[in-house]
Amino acid sequence: MTTHDSALMEKLIALTKRRGFVYQGSEIYGGLAGTWDLGPYGVALNNNIKSLWWRMFVEDREDVYGVDAAILMNPKAWEASGHVSGFADPMVECAKCKRRFRADHVEGPKCPECGGKLGEAGQFNMMFKTSIGASEDSSSVTYLRPETAGGMFVNFKNIVDSFHPKLPFGTAQIGKAFRNEIAPRDFLFRVREFEQMEIEYFVKPSAWKDLFEYWRGQMHDWITKVGIDSGKVHELEVPDGERAHYSLRTVDFEFDWPFGRKELYGLAYRTDYDLRNHEEFSAVDLKFTDEETGDRFWPHVIEPTFGLGRTLLAVLLSSYTEDELGGEKRTYLKLPKHLAPVKAAVFPLLKNKPQLVEKAREVYAMLKKEIPQIEWDDNGNIGKRYRRQDEIGTPYCITIDFDTLENNTVTVRDRDSGEQERVAIGELISKLKA
Ligand code: GAP
Repeated sequence: MTTHDSALMEKLIALTKRRGFVYQGSEIYGGLAGTWDLGPYGVALNNNIKSLWWRMFVEDREDVYGVDAAILMNPKAWEASGHVSGFADPMVECAKCKRRFRADHVEGPKCPECGGKLGEAGQFNMMFKTSIGASEDSSSVTYLRPETAGGMFVNFKNIVDSFHPKLPFGTAQIGKAFRNEIAPRDFLFRVREFEQMEIEYFVKPSAWKDLFEYWRGQMHDWITKVGIDSGKVHELEVPDGERAHYSLRTVDFEFDWPFGRKELYGLAYRTDYDLRNHEEFSAVDLKFTDEETGDRFWPHVIEPTFGLGRTLLAVLLSSYTEDELGGEKRTYLKLPKHLAPVKAAVFPLLKNKPQLVEKAREVYAMLKKEIPQIEWDDNGNIGKRYRRQDEIGTPYCITIDFDTLENNTVTVRDRDSGEQERVAIGELISKLKA
């Protein structure tokens, strides 16, 4: 990480903590590595991202079915998927301090912490084990899911039986996934508990190449829509030997993070790997019958996958801006309006003038009925309020002043330009929704 880039990460992490987006997990106990908690604005931004994704990939389409499967699954599902035997990272341990590292994260035979000798690389399975029920013997072992995909493959037959879709069709899911990462790092980038937004798109085997290209385009469209700087996104054709065990082709969408160019999203061609194996392990027929030809086969799968924490981080980095306004330095989040946690803040010019407060409360209540993400703010002076709202990315600040009492107009201040205009109260909703 260069000095400049690490400074950017530090500033962003400080902002997200100061303003209530992201806190260290279990902070008062000294934290828990690889976990982060979302504060009020983090939840709001995260939910806005999820709704946008669900809208684009489920609600606006006729061929994708939403599911929300249990995080705990029958452990056989993870044997079938290959995760029990194959979901592992190479790990090395220092003979002296016993610290463990991902083998691909260290150079040379010495421990980067204490200089001790590193042992031979071994495989470390990244699934979190847990046990179901009162006994803790091997028969009760199951896992926290390491990807949401599994919950969709085990529901493939349910979706086919309930909805009788034609190929191609997809299932989509947003939910938590857990990986016991050897070296969690870089804020939200590599964590042990995170959310994924995934689509399993079932296709005729002969159609996979065209549909792979189609989803590649959809992923770029999403990146633009969610406000990630597309100039910083680069595709990487993942070479043989480096792909996940189930994939015959993978394109990673990498992002220029302040800590280097690394994966943001992935697009994989999983062939019929999953359905074929789940059929073998469950002994339930998971083949699809082609209505026209009567052929029975396992559909092949194209899988666009999106990490939500990495989306949040890329959106925050893409919108983090420093400029000068009215001769003063300021920091603001240039979030797309549809993602901003607060759509507009309403202020009385002075909080000790009951007439102004009463009128401002009236405007606030009227707006909040239509647009729930409206905030009341009467802390400090106007300058302080603008600075706070800029830092959380609020597109508009609405001030009720003495002129409002005379002519029912308010000042609306634009986050990006800092310019103010007078707007009639009756026109506020259409202005905010524009
Ligand atoms: N179902 C396919 C799958 O899980 P993956 O590349 O292992 O593929 C998908 O993970 C996405 O999940 C990644 O592109 C990334 O956005 C996110 N992701 C994976 N591991 C992560 C971690 N430890 N912390 C945060 N996000 C992670």
